[in-house]
Order: sequence, then C-alpha cells, then structure tokens
Amino acid sequence: MLGAVQLGLFAACIVLFVPMGMAGWHLSRNKVLFFSGALFITLAVGVHLTPYFPSVSDFITSVKSSSVVVVDDDDVVVVEDRDSCVSLLHEIAWEVMPSKVFDPFLNNNSLNYEKFWSWSKSSDTDSCEFQRLKKNDVMDLLNGSWVMVAGDSQARIFTLSLLSLVLDSERVESVRSLLFKRHSDYHIVVDEMGLKLDFIWAPYPSNLTDLVLEFKHKHLYPDVLVMGSGLWHMLHITNASDYGVLLRLLRNSVTSMLPVPPKFGNDGPVVGSVSSVRSPHLFWLGIPTLINSMLNTKEKREKMSDVVQGEYTREVRKSGILREFGGPFRLLDIGSLSLNCGIKCTDDGMHYDADVYEAELHVMFNALLIESHQKL
Ligand SMILES: *[C@@H]1O[C@H](CO)[C@@H](O)[C@H](O)[C@H]1NC(C)=O
Ligand SMILES: *[C@@H]1O[C@H](CO)[C@@H](O)[C@H](O)[C@H]1NC(C)=O
Ligand SMILES: *[C@@H]1O[C@H](CO)[C@@H](O)[C@H](O)[C@H]1NC(C)=O
Ligand SMILES: *[C@@H]1O[C@H](CO)[C@@H](O)[C@H](O)[C@H]1NC(C)=O
Repeated sequence: MLGAVQLGLFAACIVLFVPMGMAGWHLSRNKVLFFSGALFITLAVGVHLTPYFPSVSDFITSVKSSSVVVVDDDDVVVVEDRDSCVSLLHEIAWEVMPSKVFDPFLNNNSLNYEKFWSWSKSSDTDSCEFQRLKKNDVMDLLNGSWVMVAGDSQARIFTLSLLSLVLDSERVESVRSLLFKRHSDYHIVVDEMGLKLDFIWAPYPSNLTDLVLEFKHKHLYPDVLVMGSGLWHMLHITNASDYGVLLRLLRNSVTSMLPVPPKFGNDGPVVGSVSSVRSPHLFWLGIPTLINSMLNTKEKREKMSDVVQGEYTREVRKSGILREFGGPFRLLDIGSLSLNCGIKCTDDGMHYDADVYEAELHVMFNALLIESHQKL
C-alpha cells in the first residue's frame, strides 16, 4: 500500500516536473504556470475526495462476505456473485515437469512426471478466494454428513481421493484394496468426523436412475450426491442418442426426487422455506478426455473414437441434467481438467492421475462452500 507521504511526494513531483518538462519543449512561462496550477488543483481535489469513494479493497471484501459465507441458523443470505465464482472454479492451471527420478526407458507417465495445480491468477479468480482445503477444513465441511458417489471406475477413483484427504495413509491402503474389488459397492463411516461415505457401483445411467428411485421410495437422500456415467455405455452400447434418452430419464427422476425442484434455468438459491427443506447437493462427474491412441484395447480404440466421445459430451449438454442447462447437477468437469493436465497425466488414456481427481475434489469443496446457505 502506498503511504500518504509517498503519495504526496509523488504528487509534488508531478506538479513540478510535468510542466517543467513541457516548458523544456515549447511552452511559455505563463502556460507552464497555468498547467502547474491546474495540475495542483486536480491532484489536491483528488486526494481530498478519495476517502469518500469505496476503495477497491472494500469492494472485494464485500464481494467475499456476500458470496462465501456459511450461514448458521435459519438466515438466508442473498448472494449475488456466487454464480460468477462457481463458473470460474475450473480455471485451473497445471505445471507438469519431469520428476527427479525420470527414467526415459520407463513407459509410465504417472511415475515420470510431477504435477502441480493451482487456480489461474486473474483478478476474477483472486476475488473469489478459492482455497485448497486442508484436512481439518475438509473434516469440518463434511462433518456429520452423508456423501454418496455413484458411477463407474472414475467415481471409484474420486471416492478414493476423497478418503485420501481425510484418512491416514495406512488406512487409505486398506480402503484401496476393498474399494477396488471389481464391480462392488463400498461403505465406510469415518467416526472421527461422523462422515458416512458410500460408493455405489453404477456403470450405466439406468443404474443411477434406479438408485434415485430408491431414495425417493425411502424418502432418504444423501447430503452430497456425486454421480457420473458414460464410459461403459460408450464402450458396450455405443449409441449416443440412447445415452441421451437415459440421461433424460435420470434427470426426470432426480428432479422429481428433490424436495423443491430447481427452477428452470435458475442457478440461484432456493429462497423461501429453506430451513424446512434440505436439498442434497448434486454433482455430475463428467467424462474424462479420452486419448484414443493410449487406450489399452483395440475394442476401446475403435468404439471410443473422438467422434463418439464428442457425441456423448453433446448428449450430456442436450439432456439438460446440468445446472448450466437448467438441470439439477453441477458439473465436475473432469473433461476439461484432464485435457489441461494432458497426456502426461494418464497411463491408459482414460483414467487420470490422482492429482486430477484431487483438484476436482477441491473444486467440489469450494462449490459446497459457496452453496452452503445452510449447515451441511
Ligand atoms: C505405472 O506406475 C503405477 C504406480 O506404480 C502403477 O500402478 C501402474 O500400473 C504403472 N503403469 C504402467 C503402464 O506400467
Ligand atoms: C464434528 O462436529 C461435532 C459436533 O458439532 C464436534 O463435536 C466434532 O468435534 C466435529 N469434528 C470434527 C472433526 O470437526
Ligand atoms: C446396471 O444396469 C444394467 C443395464 O440396465 C444392468 O444389466 C445391471 O445389472 C445394472 N447393474 C447394477 C449394479 O445394478
Ligand atoms: C440408438 O438408440 C436409439 C434410442 O434408444 C434407438 O432408437 C436407435 O435404434 C439406436 N441405434 C442403434 C444403431 O442401435
């Protein structure tokens, strides 16, 4: 911050040297005096009026306090800049560099490169004050909540990444072996923080719809629900329009499950009887960027072509399951994160390094912080 003294000196220099510089060229003495006087008056008025205008830093603080506040009790805070911050959550930049133990003969990207991510620096992202949550923050945020992740192998990796953030490494290893038993569900309660976490193996969109119908039947929903499905359908059915049909069914069942269906095209908070309605936070785990030449079977390389991938991505948009298109789910855009991390962040062109899922988790946490008008 510039002190008043420096500012004063700076102003004095301008008053003195600017007209002198002009005089050095071709101004008469009277004109120099005139400019000098005019400059002096302008600067003096400016200096005295400045305190009456809100400064830039005040403005940012107010944006912050109105947008990233978790409100206890039954208060509802109207948050104007929420949406613009949420839309910036995926502005993430990667730094990928050869690791210290780089071995050119080792055909293993994961081992050969170190990756670092951070939110891109810009005035917009800075004012949103996104944060990489520490273990304790994650524990506070998820304390006492029921989180469910349902989907395919990606959802499984996402679940493991989440647990890696709250459990010690020994426990993570034991979870890993259970979680990666093929094609099975996994349930855990982390007592220290009262977190109930379920992973549900649901490779097809229809499996997700079944799950939602079950919630509806039992009148019981998780606080945070992460769903995602696409790769299996792409490989085994390979029919984008059929995928779109299934997504619409899913959308309809989710919308009818919600206590208060989100208004069409309205991304804002459900204002009104918020305290009496506890709506789950819904996230859609997007399809990762597939790197065709790296896919590990001929069948995958043929069926999961770039064209097919493009069609599937379009169907997700068209189906209207995403918030940006009036739907219930907020997108966790693994597609863009994996694309930006790039070819050095995957071994099989489909599943990405833990860093990518970790970054996506922090995106979700920040979205939750922004969304949390009520206690999680
Ligand atoms: C690369 O290394 C990781 C970690 O050791 C291992 O899990 C993975 O299977 C390896 N991939 C290949 C293609 O060798
Ligand atoms: C979780 O919340 C409970 C009750 O509010 C509190 O007693 C406990 O310390 C919290 N645990 C963590 C890990 O924050
Ligand atoms: C998922 O759906 C498919 C196709 O509808 C079905 O064959 C399969 O049994 C379901 N799997 C699970 C785990 O429900
Ligand atoms: C793809 O799915 C649509 C909608 O379910 C269906 O009408 C169409 O016949 C399918 N196409 C093929 C080639 O199976």
